[in-house]
Amino acid sequence: MLTQTPKGTKDILPSESYKWQFIEKKIHQVCRIFGYKEIRTPVFEHTELFQRGVGDTTDIVQKEMYTFLDKGDRSITLRPEGTAGVVRSYIEHGMSSLPQPIKLYYNISAYRYEKMQKGRYREFHQFGVEAFGAKGPDIDVEIISVLGFLFKSLGIKNVGLNINSIGCPVCRKAYNEKITEFLRPHLDKMCPTCNERFGKNPLRIIDCKEEKCKKITVDAPSMLDNICEECGTHFEGLKAGLDNIGIAYNIDKNIVRGLDYYSKTVFEFVSENVGAQGTICGGGRYDGLVESCGGPSTPGIGFGLGMERLLMEIESQGILIPDEDSVEIYISSIGEAAGKYASKLVNSLRENGISAGKDLMDRSVKAQMKYADKLGAKYTVVLGDDEINNNKVVLKNMKNGEKDEISLDSLCQEIINRR
Ligand code: HAM
Repeated sequence: MLTQTPKGTKDILPSESYKWQFIEKKIHQVCRIFGYKEIRTPVFEHTELFQRGVGDTTDIVQKEMYTFLDKGDRSITLRPEGTAGVVRSYIEHGMSSLPQPIKLYYNISAYRYEKMQKGRYREFHQFGVEAFGAKGPDIDVEIISVLGFLFKSLGIKNVGLNINSIGCPVCRKAYNEKITEFLRPHLDKMCPTCNERFGKNPLRIIDCKEEKCKKITVDAPSMLDNICEECGTHFEGLKAGLDNIGIAYNIDKNIVRGLDYYSKTVFEFVSENVGAQGTICGGGRYDGLVESCGGPSTPGIGFGLGMERLLMEIESQGILIPDEDSVEIYISSIGEAAGKYASKLVNSLRENGISAGKDLMDRSVKAQMKYADKLGAKYTVVLGDDEINNNKVVLKNMKNGEKDEISLDSLCQEIINRR
């Protein structure tokens, strides 16, 4: 136990972390282009925020939260997702009085006590975006477009976008009555969870993955066919906006999402490469959430993208992420004087922004070169007294084995020129 991570968590080792850094860099670039600013909220919040925000009837709140009493007897929960904390922050800092829309993004860890399967962890990471204050479908299109840009910048192809509308409280009420009537005669053939949802949130029954429930709901009336005029106009606006900038989509009437706060637009990016659920990213509009958490009535929309699943997709598509962190040059040295010289040289290379390494283990030259190779150093030189006295070194390209004699003084410039 002592030397193993808890179930559902994993270390991100150096052999993987450079990929995360690469993706995070792309995320920052794309968010900058779209004018989204980073927000960092606490890993834990008052439990009530998630009960209210994510919703009492959700699996997350009912079964999956890491909740505990702190030493002051307050009920605290590790965030199971990012939206609720950002909404809390929007209210707490009076962001509604700033020019709208407020456009935010985050890279966070999140925690859910879930059953383990491919692409599903208990500690996982999300890149998320939230936009507050804009009511019309243009922002829905923009949010989806952020993902399109990110996928493109990473070279990801063929991730399907599914969209749906789950209406607003007005049309949902009428729909709930309709679906309740449809489902009532079949309840004894449905799973216990669906029976539980029947009284509280019947729309979620559409999302059940149990075969016996799916067989029944396949003929159920869909929310999309029952949305009100306002929600219908919004959905038409979303489709027209996506068409306008050439984003392809499918309409999937079965998307209802697993969190209670959604209204109108919901969407998912799916791929068969990322495990049973197949969802890399999910999001939607939550026009009532800010108000239900105690803030002013404010429309909102966002998404959460699973970083682990994004990496799975990248690997499945055979996309190679460059390790930009590998050592550029390794200075091997023979003897004490050369060792001292190497220390100074490495220092000056580093001052010029070059990633440089040298022996720290009193190894032989042969062992130093072997180590440089293992590090993935791009270039090496071997320094001895002769090289220092004659101001000449042989620069070896470790990739193709090519060697060039250059003056020691020009080493730094030479590495920069060769980038
Ligand atoms: P979500 O669908 O619960 O939505 O999660 C978003 C994404 O996080 C999923 O599509 C998946 O890629 C990843 N994810 C969720 N649970 C796990 C897990 N146990 N292991 C690995 N990855 C996971 C939300 O969290 C909403 N807050 C999204 C949102 C933001 N909607 C509006 N704004």
